[in-house]
Amino acid sequence: MRGTMPRGAGIEVNQQGHLVVGGVDVVDLAREYGTPLYVLDEGEFRKNCRVFREVFALYGDSQVIYASKTLSCLAVCAMVAQEGLGLDVVSGGELYTALKAGFPPERIFFHGNNKTDEELAMALQAGVGRIVVDNYFEMERLRIACQAAGRRQAVLLRITPGVEAHTHEYVRTGQIDSKFGFTLPTGDALQAVREALAAPELELTGLHCHIGSQIFEMESYAHATEVMADFLAEVHAATGVHLRELNMGGGFGIRYVEGDTPDRPERWANAVMTTLRARLDHLGLPMPKVIVEPGRAIAGPAGITVYTVGSSKHIPGVRRYVAVDGGMTDNPRPALYGSRYEAVIANRMREAADEMVSVAGRCCESGDMLLWDVRLPSPQAGDLLVTFATGAYNYSMSSNYNRIPRPAMVLVGDGRAELIVRRESYEDLIRNDLLPERLKGPCPAESA
Ligand code: LLP
Repeated sequence: MRGTMPRGAGIEVNQQGHLVVGGVDVVDLAREYGTPLYVLDEGEFRKNCRVFREVFALYGDSQVIYASKTLSCLAVCAMVAQEGLGLDVVSGGELYTALKAGFPPERIFFHGNNKTDEELAMALQAGVGRIVVDNYFEMERLRIACQAAGRRQAVLLRITPGVEAHTHEYVRTGQIDSKFGFTLPTGDALQAVREALAAPELELTGLHCHIGSQIFEMESYAHATEVMADFLAEVHAATGVHLRELNMGGGFGIRYVEGDTPDRPERWANAVMTTLRARLDHLGLPMPKVIVEPGRAIAGPAGITVYTVGSSKHIPGVRRYVAVDGGMTDNPRPALYGSRYEAVIANRMREAADEMVSVAGRCCESGDMLLWDVRLPSPQAGDLLVTFATGAYNYSMSSNYNRIPRPAMVLVGDGRAELIVRRESYEDLIRNDLLPERLKGPCPAESA
């Protein structure tokens, strides 16, 4: 048995027994670009964009927007634009990246529970398609910003539907006890709709909700959809307005390890679209345009990370720790959420995975572990260890803890590799540091 790895995707093994991604030998990638290295498979990323767009289009008027918090850089935004998707941004930085990549602003949705005045002004100036208003404070700030800019802005309201998806506590957002959105069951949401409709600076086009992330149960989506359909009916009854857009958020789960059982994308489309149509028909209401915003399911499976194995420590009868040249700085998910990954030794793919090891990161922190108890061909210093499904929430959540520079990212496809994010240098690390004149030289007490 080899180390486990996902089947399909652009992943193969060549005659030398090396892992190949997007037609490129991972050993060559490591030699050329160094490690740790993020590798993004262009074919897989684009295919995932298309799959979601196509399955939702089958059911009617729909738009898929990519949640750029998952993985954002110029090349990623450009690919999303080419694939015809919209883009969800949650900060001035994500918006800036999208605009610099030439992303069409009218296809951008701006989310976030505490957008600053500067960010709102920036969004208005850029002409983003929708601002998703999260709370009353923001509604007020946005109205003022619209007045200042002399613009009217199309908005959605973020609604907290009170639906719990079965997933990790930190990534659940639809339940009532959440920092996000206008709460539906308390009547807060209807009040927010009335206020938005009454605001001359705002054009309320619809509603948004997001029930969580890494969701496997399509029933959670169906249930949330019913709740939102009923709310559309309530809005119509109370105000006479048919809202024409419904954004059901993201959250579609992916496979990280054996035992993860993501559903097929068609089933997500079916759960949302069929449920919505049935409910609205029953209520005598028209279908709105449906928007979804997957992130993980597009970028996650398209990414791998390549590390070099270094030191190791064997504690007889306990375990063998094998350390790699990255860790929680490039992938904080295991430390943060207890997330699990599959791994292989990329330069020895045909060898038997006959040793159980735990893979540690290089940070000065015991919690910096990447993998617990994985079977690999006994890792040796210099081997290349690859973790799979790291395209989502790895680079985007990376840090410079311990002043470790962020890895580079390469885009691979059709046997070609291109650098899309340069490796950070030590110089980059001190780019914003300032050394006041008086701190230079010896300590004043000593020099006296
Ligand atoms: N839309 C909204 C409003 C969101 O808050 C999110 C994710 C998405 C869409 C995209 O969700 P996805 O399809 O990627 O599941 N850092 C965590 C995940 C946090 C998700 C935050 N919101 C992790 O590493 O698992």
